[in-house]
Parts: sequence; structure tokens; C-alpha cells
Amino acid sequence: MRDDEGSLYCPDLPNAGILRCAQNDMARGISTPARGDGWAMKKLGILLSGRGSNFEAIARNALEGKIPARIAVVISNREEARGLALAREMGFETRVIPSQGRDREAYDREMVAVLKGFQVDLVCLAGFMRILSPGFIREFPRRILNIHPALLPSFPGLDAQKKALDYGVKLTGCTVHIVDEGVDTGPIVCQAAVAVRDDDTEETLAARILAEEHRIYSEAIRLLLEDRIEVVGRRAVLRK
Ligand code: GRF
Repeated sequence: MRDDEGSLYCPDLPNAGILRCAQNDMARGISTPARGDGWAMKKLGILLSGRGSNFEAIARNALEGKIPARIAVVISNREEARGLALAREMGFETRVIPSQGRDREAYDREMVAVLKGFQVDLVCLAGFMRILSPGFIREFPRRILNIHPALLPSFPGLDAQKKALDYGVKLTGCTVHIVDEGVDTGPIVCQAAVAVRDDDTEETLAARILAEEHRIYSEAIRLLLEDRIEVVGRRAVLRK
């Protein structure tokens, strides 16, 4: 998807558009670090509820050394989540914390305790179908990322791909943002645009967006972990 020169274009992804990150000098792109080159190995905590394809993409990039991180723990609120089974198959530490009927604050305190126990540096929401409490967010200031299948601030919340189709936009995409106390409102780290085709269904559009999600989530994680993102007001900007 990224060519050898680290271009931001994705010529091999039809209609994939341009990757826009919180930086103008993306020249480095995703690079594979040599062992021992000084990249500290940070720890990720992944929260998921379902399919887990974003988790899988992050895990593969981490295992291949494309992001300076390893996955410390995968937490699911649903025992039947495919992503949880996948995490177990891949040999990661997993925890199931069922959420049904639980008080939000108490539930979040339990998740925080698990994540702190694993000393995670960054929490990645990867299809985690719960809104986090302010108490949870305060425990990881600017250290929680979420991915959303639309170009925020358009189409926040559920069914973003359907909303984009129904509205008739010609461009949609995906967004990785820092989580704040709102729903899909935090500072934007990366976005990728995807053109909507006249013959798109929700499924075909979602599939093309998902391919971009898998690419930009790791990019955003890398920028955060390299401490290259500074939040200025609403904006996540690249540190000089
Ligand atoms: C993705 O579309 C993501 O943008 C949204 O939830 C979906 C999760 O998919 N937040 P997966 O579980 O990562 O496959």
C-alpha cells in the first residue's frame, strides 16, 4: 500500500485516496526497525468486542516490527468475540470481562486494573462496543486511540458506512482519533479517504474502508508511541 519512497498515495487500492496524517513529512512511513536500534518496545492494550480484524492488523505489524510495540493484553467484553479467539490462537494474553448488566464505573475500574497490571502504554479500541467512562479516560490521558469508519466529524456513532451511503457523499473513509469524553470527538491523528461508488452496497464500501483502517491504525499507533503527536486545542499536530 505504501510504495518504497513512503508515498502517501495508495495506487494499488482503487479509490483509496490519500492518507492524511497529523504530519506533513510522512517520508519515513512505516519502517522496519533493526533489532536494538533504540526503539523502546511499548506495551499495547487492545479492547475489542467482535471480529477483531483491526486487532489482527495491529498484531501483525507489531510482530513484524513495523510499530515499536508489543501487545500486552487483549480484553473483550464478549466471550464469543472472534477477535478474542484469534488473540488466543496467536498466543496473546487475553481477558474476558463480561459487561452485560454491569455498572459502567465499576466495569471500567476493573478494565483499568487489568490494563495497569500489564503496564500498558497505549490503549487501542478495536471495535470495542462500549462508551468509556470519564474515570477510565482520566487514567490514560491522551493514551487511548479509537478507529472510526468515516471521515469524522461526519457520521459519528454506529452504522457510519450506511449513514455515508444514505447521505450520498462521494467520499468517506476512516479516522483514528485520541479518545476524549465525547463520542468520536477526540483530536484526529490520521484519516484516509475512500471514494464511494454508485454501485456500492454497505458491504462493499465497508470492505474498502476496512482495508484503509488496517493501514492507518498502525500508522497512528507509531506516531503516538514515538511521542511525535502534540495536542494543541482540538488538533493533533506533529512535533517539530
Ligand atoms: C471497524 O469498522 C472500526 O472502524 C469500528 O468497528 C469496526 C471493528 O472491526 N470501530 P474489527 O472488529 O476490527 O474487524
